[in-house]
Amino acid sequence: MTKLLLETLKGNPGDRVPFWFMRQAGRYLPEYLEVRATTNSFMEFCYSPDKAAEVTLQPIRRYGMDGAILFADILVAPDGLGQKVWFEKGHGPKLEPVNDEASYAKLSMGAFHDRVGNVYETVRRLKAELPAEVTLLGFAGAPWTVATYMIAGQGSKDHAAARQLGYGNPELFGKIMDMLVDATSEYLIAQIDAGADAVQIFDSWSAAIPETMFERWVIEPTKEIVSRIRAKHAETPIIGFPRLAGAALPTFVDAVGIDCVGLDTGVPLDWAAREIQPKVCVQGNMDPHLVVSGGDLMVSEANRILEQLRGGAHIFNLGHGFVPETPPENVALLSDTIKAFRR
Ligand code: CP3
Repeated sequence: MTKLLLETLKGNPGDRVPFWFMRQAGRYLPEYLEVRATTNSFMEFCYSPDKAAEVTLQPIRRYGMDGAILFADILVAPDGLGQKVWFEKGHGPKLEPVNDEASYAKLSMGAFHDRVGNVYETVRRLKAELPAEVTLLGFAGAPWTVATYMIAGQGSKDHAAARQLGYGNPELFGKIMDMLVDATSEYLIAQIDAGADAVQIFDSWSAAIPETMFERWVIEPTKEIVSRIRAKHAETPIIGFPRLAGAALPTFVDAVGIDCVGLDTGVPLDWAAREIQPKVCVQGNMDPHLVVSGGDLMVSEANRILEQLRGGAHIFNLGHGFVPETPPENVALLSDTIKAFRR
């Protein structure tokens, strides 16, 4: 049984455009909320292989996506390094900040795989349970995006704490980034060992970074992770997603050596088709908020995306994840629209 999404990632697109959606498992689905309600702590939920595998499979059963993304979170990596991570209702993630030598000294790779090992177990269960034609996607956050949370101790606007540490104490910042390169490479390699067919690296906050720092904070660490994965698993496709990188996107694609790049909602598609798609597969870029209103505009926009990217390898996805208020029936209509299209 061939996996259409995996083949497309390898640069062999078929007649139909494969699809999956960021945050396809999540709060917009009543069956997710039901399982989620059985565990108070979100991190504990991520470390429960039965529950994490179940919520990964829920959207596949409903909508028949070509890809299933492992259910976990990008903040599993700092938790594995020994940083305290927790989620507060209505506040998002909280972490004990790592912003000086003393807090950095508490982190290490020593217990990493033991701490996050249940995520690998989730991958093994998914590998066994998923239909043969569905591609299993592992993922991690990119060092820059994960560092913005680690340093600020929470989500932040403009990522002031990480930027200021990066400029003001490049030595400490560099040590944090190096540790994240080690952790992320090993974490993704272990997910592939456990059965992931491909992996995505989320750099959600790579917007508005000066180009010298974009090179140092976004391109170099991601490139190093890609090269370490390739050394062990040369055949496994890697998707990069430097969200909101704008005109730096082609530079990122050329430098990092990924197989596919995620396009956020603002990327003009004629430009992407011309400048990026000849080099790598592209994925994206539907506005998740358009799936909240749905209807004819959602269908015509989906068809426009499919048309504009029909000339090369394309995986239909969103420009960012589904929001909780997304009506599940709109996801059904969007899925049917994508399935009906032929290149
Ligand atoms: O379906 C999937 O996409 C797979 C699972 C997944 C989650 N988070 C589950 C989740 C993935 C791939 C992520 C990635 C992630 N996590 C990113 C990168 C992608 C992006 O959205 O930019 C980031 C920045 C995070 C960090 C994070 N996790 C935040 C800021 C929050 C709180 C905000 C929110 O939406 O609640 C989370 C929590 C989280 N991660 C939830 C889910 C389903 C909601 C928590 C809950 O169910 O109580």
